[in-house]
Amino acid sequence: MRHLEGAYALIFKSQHYPNELIACKRGSPLLLGVKELNEDICNGSAFSDSKFVSKDGAPKELFLSSDANALIEHTKKVLVIEDGEVVHLKDGGVSILKFENDKGRRGSGLSRPASVQRALSVLEMEVEQINKGKYEHYMQKEIHEQPESLTTTMRGRLICGGSCKSQTVLLGGLKDHLKTIRRSRRIVFIGCGTSYNAALAARPILEELSGVPVTMEIASDLLDRQGPIYREDTTVFVSQSGETADTLRALEYALENGALCVGITNTVGSAIARHTHCGVHINAGCEIGVASTKAYTSQIVVMAMLALAIGADTISNQARREAIIDGLFDLPSKVREALKLDQEMKELAKLLMNEQSLLVFGRGYNYATALEGALKVKEVALMHSEGILAGEMKHGPLALVDETLPIFVIATHDACFSKQQSVIHQLHARKGRLIVMCSKGDAASVCPGESCRVIEVPHVEDCLQPVVNIVPLQLLAYHLTVLRGYNVDQPRNLAKSVTTE
Ligand code: UD1
Ligand code: BG6
Repeated sequence: MRHLEGAYALIFKSQHYPNELIACKRGSPLLLGVKELNEDICNGSAFSDSKFVSKDGAPKELFLSSDANALIEHTKKVLVIEDGEVVHLKDGGVSILKFENDKGRRGSGLSRPASVQRALSVLEMEVEQINKGKYEHYMQKEIHEQPESLTTTMRGRLICGGSCKSQTVLLGGLKDHLKTIRRSRRIVFIGCGTSYNAALAARPILEELSGVPVTMEIASDLLDRQGPIYREDTTVFVSQSGETADTLRALEYALENGALCVGITNTVGSAIARHTHCGVHINAGCEIGVASTKAYTSQIVVMAMLALAIGADTISNQARREAIIDGLFDLPSKVREALKLDQEMKELAKLLMNEQSLLVFGRGYNYATALEGALKVKEVALMHSEGILAGEMKHGPLALVDETLPIFVIATHDACFSKQQSVIHQLHARKGRLIVMCSKGDAASVCPGESCRVIEVPHVEDCLQPVVNIVPLQLLAYHLTVLRGYNVDQPRNLAKSVTTE
């Protein structure tokens, strides 16, 4: 450990030391699961090496893992190993030693690591959450459980006053920090992959309701540029796992620069949840498929609630806020309705399964939907796909349009609708092969003369529409993957948590 640089979580086993294991970590996550074979002993007790080798010799099983999901079928009792700690398992006993930060480094003499005493924590999840249930794949299960995961995300956070007149949002983890956020010079969203896309979907409503400029950063790019982050900034770290290396490094960078750091994560106890000043757990339940689906929609909902909470002190936007809160209450049922498109998306997948490429056009709230839909198709169906900002169509993408290339256009009803109608006309004039997603009842106005395939989705408040609109694209990516014969839950070369830079 004194010699290693970078992030790692390592376990060592040697034939010279039978019945011993050594584990250590820096940066990457590592959990020690403790299964008391007689659960009554040591219940809720502090955890130390002396106590662990229980006096009555009660047997224990110990597990080392980088992810709680792998432990839950064995035990709920875990110890989150911290950076610089060394776990030593020997003859059924365990000791945990900690190296002081700089002590013991090369050149400064050898100091012995100190023994530490830690409390076990209890995982708040059930083993059923990691079963596939009636579904064939985790991704399929996670797409279909979105009405429930969204309900859990909002549970206890949408407050309805007497006769539902005074509706508000309560985010327990942020209530003491809202004033500071409102006063900040700008809000900077930082994330990678799907989490970045979720933040992009929420950006317009946050700008509208907070009045604070909102900028977007892909974590690795912020670090590459060492982009400016100031004390007056609020930085928001969006990460399903809470362990993504680039996002975590960007968090360290923002902390060094004195910004207020807010986390939005799905994993209680994750590095981002622990190291941010405050934040919100999205409570979407554990997500196992590598391609993020239900975490994406829950992230958008939490960020919409964040916008509502920040904007709650402004009278002028009260009607708008109430409309959004009403929309949030209805959202799970609208997503359930969108899930009924499953068979239609399977039929579409059959038509597209042998294509080389798929373009997805969106704008406004649904630029993020275009990026995220294309990312899903790319990462699981292994088909080239690109999300394109429709406003940029004439600056390059239009050259690709011909009779063969399938183009998915998102044209649900919002302030950008007429512009999207004009995009459809222009693509149509170039004989584009169009699939148009529109709000229920709009088919005739987006696609005169049945010249293209239309997918109709339920209409919701504009800022929540990305939550509904992504559902058919998730289903399309899923069915394309199955039909093309690829691994849905563990796509080639990809990992659920990218814990190295
Ligand atoms: C919390 C409890 C929840 C309980 C509710 C009752 C936890 C994890 N949640 O939920 O079980 O039902 O109170 O009022 O105990 N945080 C960060 N960074 C992050 C995410 C969260 O610092 O990235 C902090 C928050 O600022 C907060 C704490 O973690 O202090 C819990 O956050 P969250 O679970 O979102 O809070 P509540 O919804 O209030
Ligand atoms: C990986 C996952 O690339 O990390 C993606 O495969 C995910 O699904 C991305 O969007 C970011 O992860 P997180 O945990 O920070 O949201």
